[in-house]
Amino acid sequence: MRFLKYQAVVGVCVLLIAACAPKKNISEVSPPDKKMDVFVSGLLSKMTLEEKIGQLNLLTGGEAVTGSAVNSDLEAKIKNGQVGGFFSLTSVERIRKAQELAISTSRLKIPLIFGLDVIHGYKTTFPIPLGLSATWDMPLIQRTAEIAAEEAAADGINWTFSPMVDISRDPRWGRFSEGSGEDPYLGSEIARAMVKGYQGDDLMSETTIMACVKHFALYGAGEAGRDYNTTDMSKVRMYNEFLPPYKAAIDAGAGSLMASFNEINGIPATANKWLLTDLLRKEWGFKGLVVTDYTGINEMVDHGYGDLPHVSALALKAGIDMDMVGEGFLTTLKRSLDEGKVSISEINRACRFVLEAKYKLGLFDDPFRYCNDERAKTKIFTAANRAFARKAAGSSFVLLKNDKQLLPIKKSSTIALIGPLADSKVNMPGTWSVSTDLSKAISVRQGLEEASGSSKILYATGSNLLEDPEYQKRATMFGREIPRDNRPEAEMIKEALTVAARSDVIVAALGESSEMSGESSSRTDIRIPAVQQRLLDALLKTGKPVVLLVFAGRPLDLSSENANVPAILNVWFGGTETGYAIADVLFGDVNPSGKLSATFPQNVGQIPLYYNHKNTGRPLEKGKWFQKFRSNYLDVSNDPLFPFGFGLSYTSFDISAPVLDKTVMNTNGSISVTVNVKNTGSRDGEEVVQLYIRDLVGTITRPVKELKAFRKIALKAGEAREVNFTLTENDLKFYNAELEFVSEPGDFKVFIGNSSENVKEANFKLIK
Ligand code: BGC
Repeated sequence: MRFLKYQAVVGVCVLLIAACAPKKNISEVSPPDKKMDVFVSGLLSKMTLEEKIGQLNLLTGGEAVTGSAVNSDLEAKIKNGQVGGFFSLTSVERIRKAQELAISTSRLKIPLIFGLDVIHGYKTTFPIPLGLSATWDMPLIQRTAEIAAEEAAADGINWTFSPMVDISRDPRWGRFSEGSGEDPYLGSEIARAMVKGYQGDDLMSETTIMACVKHFALYGAGEAGRDYNTTDMSKVRMYNEFLPPYKAAIDAGAGSLMASFNEINGIPATANKWLLTDLLRKEWGFKGLVVTDYTGINEMVDHGYGDLPHVSALALKAGIDMDMVGEGFLTTLKRSLDEGKVSISEINRACRFVLEAKYKLGLFDDPFRYCNDERAKTKIFTAANRAFARKAAGSSFVLLKNDKQLLPIKKSSTIALIGPLADSKVNMPGTWSVSTDLSKAISVRQGLEEASGSSKILYATGSNLLEDPEYQKRATMFGREIPRDNRPEAEMIKEALTVAARSDVIVAALGESSEMSGESSSRTDIRIPAVQQRLLDALLKTGKPVVLLVFAGRPLDLSSENANVPAILNVWFGGTETGYAIADVLFGDVNPSGKLSATFPQNVGQIPLYYNHKNTGRPLEKGKWFQKFRSNYLDVSNDPLFPFGFGLSYTSFDISAPVLDKTVMNTNGSISVTVNVKNTGSRDGEEVVQLYIRDLVGTITRPVKELKAFRKIALKAGEAREVNFTLTENDLKFYNAELEFVSEPGDFKVFIGNSSENVKEANFKLIK
């Protein structure tokens, strides 16, 4: 009833005011949707300056705080029209209450938008994004985003701050966990899949939510892997290697974008006009909403960019529409307008984008569209969603080593399950899972016990997560505790060895806690913590077979483990169903098929290490370890420990050399590349067939390899199949020194294989 009245009021207002809507300034981007344009222009013409500035203010409901600032006087601000939206306010009840306040007490009854960091699932939690990217399975990734949207939308949310598409080549960076790894092509495919999953075909549907691609830009390229740190990069490198996933998300229709915390070539992203207007709006044609990151405007004071009024004006002028948490816009823009430091058309532009986002979500038709108690009760954490999360987790695990086919384990075996992560529920969902119910996550212990009977699973903690209790505290925040055991280390190891002695096989669940990666969780030492390594050494000395489960939110340095442990399964953080998914894979009900989306280095000193590097003028000869006056190290080879694209299976695959239908390609033609893929083992399995190219000569130097296509295929034991790819000129294009996207005639190599290193090659030529 109340809602009908609201619709009528806004409807009449808009009809009346549409006729006298102000003419749009050139700096205001005109929306393609005429109806929306008429509606929003009408509304804008009715708004006071204060109400317009109010729409630019995004406040936190305070349930997931990632900075030191929080907002106050929320009710009063809603009534006064000083809020455009909230994030981190959850549940239909609370969201409805806030929306009712906005609709019933603010002068223009403009609905609020409600955001949340729905990063890898809502209540049903999927693997961390880095894990999801290791599935190389785009329909699966898209489905995880669809489910996340269905659940979040059922609980009142209509906007997610995801996908994070920042390319990173530095595993020291904690937020490596939140992205899709190191590759611009794979990253772009995933960015598209995520946006499609969240937004579907119809943003107004009560099962979809608006995506927010972040963090624009280059947030993953911070110096030394330290969070929020400086980036300085040539534009050629940006365009070719770091920007493609943002562009892919925008081309897929992402409704909004978040500016990053870092500075880029001396200018903070939040006030970077080149980035937010010239590139984003003018060159890429982005028509959605641009929001800052958490207090991103205020932080420019510490960047050394001026006081709050100054940086707020700069942010608006650069292209920021909405100010997250910091209230710089709210408290300074009016005065800046009076002083001529910003223009009314800049405020109108920002307000227009906020209102358009709400319009696209259907909030003007029905502000309570996403507040449906029935859906909240029936659509969240359903058995079907959990089953899908279990499948996603199983697909994300990467089998790094499996000597003598130690895995899979027979269900009848007695297993010694040992390690600080073996019996933890709360660490399984992984970092940035603010809406998950930690108590419902499945631990490894529970998963194995349910699969093979509790009498077969003998458990011991074996060691603390970290030796230093203070470090452990920092690494287990946000309710992700791992209880500390105060016994001496030797005593804990002794207990573990007693348990191990009664088992057929040892499964060691070691690595990072979930909060050892994520925001503000950078590490300079990316090995498994020493206290856990000592436990592992003791377990290995028993002579029993040891399977290592590695929990990690980044590529770890696993050199010592790789040298000594016969079987290693990298399980990231698999989400709520982790324990079940681990049981599926350990017992062979699911055959691992994950492939690394980022290079694993031999040690931290090799960083940045990535497969698509340049050759240098003094490359090391193939197969050599060290050559004087060549580009290499004295103490370690240039090789990664595990290359990009790598991952084993319980079966084996043979991929033939690529066969090309022609060796000369015209710029308007194409080349067909075919390989034969055979499952040569005795189990059904999945393989990711990967196609890379190398452009041998260019007007700028080209990487030694670039992923250009891949296909994940399932083959029964003994089955063979042809896999065909078509290369066109577009696949050979890159940004040249003038930042033109061009192809250049000449010689190319094409490589096909099942990792970036295990490939077979052929040659072709591009002619104009
Ligand atoms: C993070 C963003 C996140 C925002 C809102 C920030 O600290 O960098 O990724 O979306 O908080 O929670």
